[in-house]
Amino acid sequence: MLHLSSETVPGWAERAAIDLTSILLDHAHLEKKAASTAIQLIFKYPERSRLVLELSKLAREELEHFELVLGELEKRKIPFQRLHPAPYAGRLHEVLRPNDPERLLDQLLVCAVIEARSCERMRLLAEHLESKGHDLAPLYRSLLASEARHHRLYLDLAEEIFPREHVASRLAEVTAHEARILSDAPHEPRLHSG
Ligand SMILES: [Fe+2]
Ligand SMILES: [Fe+2]
Repeated sequence: MLHLSSETVPGWAERAAIDLTSILLDHAHLEKKAASTAIQLIFKYPERSRLVLELSKLAREELEHFELVLGELEKRKIPFQRLHPAPYAGRLHEVLRPNDPERLLDQLLVCAVIEARSCERMRLLAEHLESKGHDLAPLYRSLLASEARHHRLYLDLAEEIFPREHVASRLAEVTAHEARILSDAPHEPRLHSG
C-alpha cells in the first residue's frame, strides 16, 4: 500500500504520453537522483548500520533503473542531456527541519513519498501505454514492484529509528504538503508534474 494524501488527477498519463522523450529524460534523471540521495544518506548517517546496508542496495537498484532508462533512450536515439527539473522535489524539501534527529525523519519520509508518487505515476503510465500497445509499457510495468518496495523500506527505516506515532503524524504532514505541491504544479512533461 502506498501512503499518499491524494491521487493523481485523471488525464495525467494521457498528457504525459504526448511527450515521451521528455518523460524518459526526466525519468532517467530521477533514477540517478534516487541513487544519489540514498548515497548521501549513507555518508551522513554512517553509524546507522541497517540504513547504510539497505540504502547501499537501494542505490544499486536505482542505478540499474537508470541504466535501463538510458538503454531506452539509446534505442530511440535520444541523447541523454540536462533537463530543467520539475519544481516538485525542491518544494518537497521545504518540509525538512534543520536539525537531527528531526531532519533524518523528514528525509526518510520525503524519500518514501517520492518513491510512492513515482510508483503511482509509473503504474498510470504503464496502464495507459498498455492500452495503446506502446513498446515502453513493459519498462514502466517492470519498475512498479521495486519502487513500491523502496517506499516501504524508507518507512521501515523511519519506524526503526523513531516511535511509530511520530512517524505516522509526520508522514501525514509530509503527504499533505506533497499533495498541495502537485495541485499547484504546472502541466509539463515530467513524472512529478501537475
Ligand atoms: Fe527506481
Ligand atoms: Fe526507487
